[in-house]
Amino acid sequence: MKQFPKDFLWGVATASYQIEGAAQEGGRSPSIWDDFARTPGKVFEGHTGDVACDHYHRYPEDVHLMKELGVQAYRFSISWSRLFPEKGVFNQAGLEFYKRLIRELKARGIQPAATIYHWDLPSWAQAEGGWANRDTVLHFVDYATTLFRELGRDVGVWITHNEPWCAAFLGYGEGVHAPGHQDWREALISSHHLLLSHGLAVQAYRDMGLTGEIGITLNFTPTDAASDAPADVIAASRWDGYANRWFLDPLFKGHYPVDMIEWFGEQFGPLACIQPGDLETIAVPIDFLGVNFYSRNISKAGADNALLGISFDEARGPVTDMGWEVHPESLYRLLKRLEQEYTGRLPLYITENGAAYPDQITGDAVHDPERVRYLHEHLEACQQFVAEGGNLKGYYVWSFLDNFEWAFGYSKRFGIVYVDYETQRRIPKDSALWFARTIADNGVQP
Ligand code: NOJ
Repeated sequence: MKQFPKDFLWGVATASYQIEGAAQEGGRSPSIWDDFARTPGKVFEGHTGDVACDHYHRYPEDVHLMKELGVQAYRFSISWSRLFPEKGVFNQAGLEFYKRLIRELKARGIQPAATIYHWDLPSWAQAEGGWANRDTVLHFVDYATTLFRELGRDVGVWITHNEPWCAAFLGYGEGVHAPGHQDWREALISSHHLLLSHGLAVQAYRDMGLTGEIGITLNFTPTDAASDAPADVIAASRWDGYANRWFLDPLFKGHYPVDMIEWFGEQFGPLACIQPGDLETIAVPIDFLGVNFYSRNISKAGADNALLGISFDEARGPVTDMGWEVHPESLYRLLKRLEQEYTGRLPLYITENGAAYPDQITGDAVHDPERVRYLHEHLEACQQFVAEGGNLKGYYVWSFLDNFEWAFGYSKRFGIVYVDYETQRRIPKDSALWFARTIADNGVQP
């Protein structure tokens, strides 16, 4: 058995728009994802989060199932437009849902870890320019401060943002996520405002004297150069600058990566949105870094990607239902690199790791050997890092439930628990039973 440390935290993760449903209940107003999902052609077969997994009503059953699996921590996100359905207007009923959820978790001994922003910006904030408008930063800090005041005694782990890379670049640059804009200048400005709002929220948390942990979750896509040819190596470094360093450097080094500032500057001009003092705010110390890891890519010289002036090679191994290569070694190397170049002894958590496969019900079971294998191999990579002294404190599977996979709607299943969307029945997949054993053993079989 490859053991984890005694205090290693085993969790599962979800996000509000992906599972809650009840889109028009409890005083909630629309978010950019409600609007995006209603725009023809944006989401697979016009799927929306209106009902999703109906977790808003079924949370007691869901928390009960977590408990049965032995899950120790639950990472969920809070829907901003439930709490603030209009600009400056607080909605107590929206808060009450999260109070009920947290009470249920605590009653079952499960530690809540709350993500403040997992992409569902209230539509009223987007109407004023969304993350491209600096005012949104201040609205976010008001929202975060309300959460700290109302829930800060019961929630010991706060994640300001989930994957700001996706929120900024997929949302405002590529346009494949809400709000669906295709304007790279706006995307870069949005990335800066997301980071700034993180720093200000951390400062607000500290000012309130709360004693929990606060950090941020980034998504990482490590890349390998297709060959040793200098042009391929440069391509890989540019991808890394865009996908990884653009967020890591300001958070941990207090500046944007110089090569990327030059690269983007040549195309879009200087980033006037970076005001004096912003970078100091962004680099304010945090208590942990959340790491979301799914896959790597392989970069090479070329021009398929117009923004970066690079191309990509095909995967060199098995892929999941998303077409993402299964490459656990990249997770190990990523953790090592983070420790060496950025985080040192700062605690790391895997806040998401998992895989989509086209699961089917067989009788009363869902056999998902590929997901078990994926999780197993990635946990081995984590264990190796920990065994070598790495400060990884916990691991959250993405996802607890099958759910609304953004532009892919319900067509991709990431859950360790199967959701039959017709009946809302939950069926723990083989991977859930395997995860329960792993938690009980606090380790993985070699
Ligand atoms: C990252 C996101 O945080 C989550 O919302 C998404 O479902 C998973 N990756 C899988 O794509």
